[in-house]
Amino acid sequence: MAVATHAIRLDGNPGGDSGGAPSAFPCRGDETVVAAMERLRLPAPGLRRTPGRPIPVGCRQGGCGVCRVQILSGSYRLQPMSRAHVSEAEERAGYALACRLIPESDLDLRCARRTGAAATGAPVPAQPITNT
Ligand code: FES
Repeated sequence: MAVATHAIRLDGNPGGDSGGAPSAFPCRGDETVVAAMERLRLPAPGLRRTPGRPIPVGCRQGGCGVCRVQILSGSYRLQPMSRAHVSEAEERAGYALACRLIPESDLDLRCARRTGAAATGAPVPAQPITNT
């Protein structure tokens, strides 16, 4: 059975490395938003300051919080992620880590990166959770 592909639309929030430019890219229903960005080379991994990167990326494992986003519309599922960066209440309000976010429909997102320690990309131990 073919895997559905969904459109990931990002608003022009200046929290992203794109410098506030709106962007959109396709993401399969069996990959995370960050995995799709990297599969599409938006841009090459490791070049965090390269213009055009839709969402900043750090650990890719749900631990650093750099890729924090708010989902404005659409349906999705989440893999386990650190509660240090997205509390249960924030998750209910639509916040997530893009490296743990798998679309089930087209998604409208905005970068929601925190300032302070979380913005440095410093690793924070992941706290396994179950998303139901
Ligand atoms: S890249 Fe570190 S939490 Fe997503």
